[in-house]
Amino acid sequence: MIPNISLSNGSIPLLTYGLLTLILYVFYLFAIAVKRNAAIRKLGGQRAYIMCSNPITASYKVLWTIKKSSQNKIAEAYEELYNSLPPESRHSYEHQFLPGSRTIETREPAHVKTILAGDFHSFGKGPVFHRIWSPFLGDSIFTTDGKLWHNSRGLIRPMFMTDRISDLIIFDRQIRKMIDLIPPSGQTVDIMDLFFRMTLDATTDFLLGESANSLENPNSEFTFAFNDVLTHQIRLFVLRIFYPFDKLAPHGDYYRDIRKIDEFVMPYVRQTLAIPPEELEKLTKSDTEFTFLHNLARFTQDPKVIRDQLVAVLLAGRDTTAATLSWAFYELAAYPDKVGRLRAEIIEYVGEHGTPTYETLKSMKYLRYTIQETLRLHPAVPLNDESGTHRHSLAERRDLYPPTSEKFADPALFSPERWYSWQPRPWEYIPFNGGPRICPGQNFAMTEMAYCIVRMLQKYDRIEYRGDWHAQRDKTDVVSRPAFGVPVAFYEATTKE
Ligand code: HEM
Repeated sequence: MIPNISLSNGSIPLLTYGLLTLILYVFYLFAIAVKRNAAIRKLGGQRAYIMCSNPITASYKVLWTIKKSSQNKIAEAYEELYNSLPPESRHSYEHQFLPGSRTIETREPAHVKTILAGDFHSFGKGPVFHRIWSPFLGDSIFTTDGKLWHNSRGLIRPMFMTDRISDLIIFDRQIRKMIDLIPPSGQTVDIMDLFFRMTLDATTDFLLGESANSLENPNSEFTFAFNDVLTHQIRLFVLRIFYPFDKLAPHGDYYRDIRKIDEFVMPYVRQTLAIPPEELEKLTKSDTEFTFLHNLARFTQDPKVIRDQLVAVLLAGRDTTAATLSWAFYELAAYPDKVGRLRAEIIEYVGEHGTPTYETLKSMKYLRYTIQETLRLHPAVPLNDESGTHRHSLAERRDLYPPTSEKFADPALFSPERWYSWQPRPWEYIPFNGGPRICPGQNFAMTEMAYCIVRMLQKYDRIEYRGDWHAQRDKTDVVSRPAFGVPVAFYEATTKE
């Protein structure tokens, strides 16, 4: 006999349960919000301005940011957001998707100090960041907090503690190869493309003892996979807002690219793990043969741990340095007098053909100021996501700078000269982050960039921009780079030596 259940009889309890669950969930969210608000009131102080407080206004803000990002106007977008804030909360704001969740964004140096140093242990990358990045970067220095992060830091830091001669040999090798690819005087080249290939080769050379050879072979599977995986990673990062539905997005290409990266990296890892410990110890004494990978293998035999750290440092070291060099040449191309001043310093310290050493690189002030000024205007890592800190917006806060004068040009302009008489206050200039998570590769990066600029200006004395300089935009994903590349023509200097 067929049971006598009508549609309405069957669906009412289901509907009732559904509605009841929804009502309970909304109550639960409001209870969390009330509890949280009470805790915030008890703490005292000034609460950040709440820009949006429900899924509709928050979604609008997210879509607006995505649109601005696709137009390469993310820096302008944040400027606009900050300018719209009320006077009592000029430099930080909050948005909430649901009543219980809070995201706070800031460009206030005092907040930055607290997040990165003063109250470091209360902040971190967190579980969401780990979930999104771990298929690519595993449990590496980038994706972890607490003890796991601390252990990674201990593994990585020793390789950056000394000025290694082998690093200069690597820079020299890869930068020479890159300069050989620059066309003859007066012909246009996208120097940004060459910088990205050179830094990929230099970083793999440093990490593995062998380069990815992307300068010779720009179309290698590894180069493509590394670029594509990053693009996909950014998409995942945006989609995280729609958790758990973000998991429904297609991930096939992403995992295929990760496999290709592993196919490149893992043979080196296995080769190194096969080296007997006493051989490895002997290698530590060699300044030219001892690699980052050898160093990791001294402390762990776990191929996954080694792989994760290698890929993380590759990511950290490659795009940041290439983007900064690109911005430096973009800016220099607009100022022939600054190119002249920089070249004069280089020729004074190393001549037209001499090889730079750590000492000469560190002695060249104008060279250092050129890089510092580039990072002030174009911080390579513009957002610190886990703590919602805007480095770019920090750089644009005019109230943090002295008044414009003969010695201090308008802060919106590129002026390495300002650094002769000006030092930013602590936490107001943080291109390399600060506190316990400060960039361990800072010295390595500064040396690589300085070396590259020296070698290029030894050969060339004129740079001509071959595009619409003023139309350039900032393309921001993990790093910020010139959106339209850096099309320039170099002109060789007539040798005097
Ligand atoms: C212009 C070049 C560079 C800039 C501007 C830069 C900037 C930064 C910044 C801002 C962070 C913190 C990221 C965060 O918010 O979590 C960071 C972290 C890091 N950087 Fe760099 N970096 C540069 C080059 C390098 C190089 C060349 C290497 C290594 C070869 C490197 C290795 C790392 C590592 C391993 C971390 C993670 C540190 C941690 O979480 O404890 N960086 N860098």
